[in-house]
Amino acid sequence: MSKLKASAIAPSNIAFSKYWGKIDDELTLPLNDSISMTLDTIFTHTTVEFGPQYAKNEVWLSDSKTKATLAKDQKQARVLQQLKRLRRLAGVKDFAKVVSHNNFPTGAGIASSASGFSALTAACLAALNIQVDKKQQSILTRLAGSGSATRSVYGGFVKWHQGKNSESSYAEQLYDQDHWDLANIILVTESAAKKHSSLIGHARSKSSPFMVARLKAVLQHNQDLETALKSKDFQLLGQVIEQEMFSLHAVTMTSQPPILYWNGTTVEILHEVRKLRDQGLESYATLDAGPNVHLITESSNIKKLQKHFSDFVGVKQIFVCKVGKGVKITKQHLF
Ligand code: DP6
Repeated sequence: MSKLKASAIAPSNIAFSKYWGKIDDELTLPLNDSISMTLDTIFTHTTVEFGPQYAKNEVWLSDSKTKATLAKDQKQARVLQQLKRLRRLAGVKDFAKVVSHNNFPTGAGIASSASGFSALTAACLAALNIQVDKKQQSILTRLAGSGSATRSVYGGFVKWHQGKNSESSYAEQLYDQDHWDLANIILVTESAAKKHSSLIGHARSKSSPFMVARLKAVLQHNQDLETALKSKDFQLLGQVIEQEMFSLHAVTMTSQPPILYWNGTTVEILHEVRKLRDQGLESYATLDAGPNVHLITESSNIKKLQKHFSDFVGVKQIFVCKVGKGVKITKQHLF
């Protein structure tokens, strides 16, 4: 029996400038460029095996707290689409078994689709022996429907070019993981699944009267982020990261109907971060489509910030990440 099997490990990432809103839903073409930092301690390990022994596709998901269970929801639909897309590309007819494990609690409110879809795509490409360069891999990852996964192909600091069509919408590495010793301290304020998925948020973004202003502002934000990354200007980087976050959330709060992703603790932390900055402990806050706060700081501040927030009322869990490497293949059997 032929065996087409491979495993990949892929990191999550945190966006400094945010992908919010799409030009094309089918192709996941975003309305703007986005820039992110790849994370080192939060990742997904995925094994994919194609073979005649499978009468249909099976997707097994587990995390640091739960045993593997068969997936059913919308994520499963995106996984099945991606299997079909890549199987066709390779001219393979067999179904596959996918076993995917997150090394963190999936329900902890930390985005898992960036690492998940990046690992899935890489493992499928290796199992099917489809050889592509990183740029093509980022394009194929994007087509799975999780835009943020596009950036998790690379380590370090990454830019996803908006593009005008599928071929020109890809990610590239700006700097590798050794460029700048930054950290992301994730303060979990809510571990339940969010009520409004990013999918809904993207769709609603165009209904906000602030969206036009955001799309103009993000052009400048991306330029400033690139300047800050190049010159390692932490204050500039942090200020733009916060402007971006407020701009994204101004759009969600003014979409029709509005989406308020923040909870009370989110606001308390935003004030605290300002207070700490005034006292000389420098970190800047960003949020994705949820209430958990990501503090971006220089690694020398990790211990102090971790200690400070460990007994902060409403903070349920803390994850510390530094700059990580991109997706990699851990095993490949082709015979
Ligand atoms: C706010 O469509 O990539 O995190 O599939 O839910 O991860 P998921 O979302 P995706 O949108 C991400 C939106 C964001 C900003 C960003 O990561 O750029």
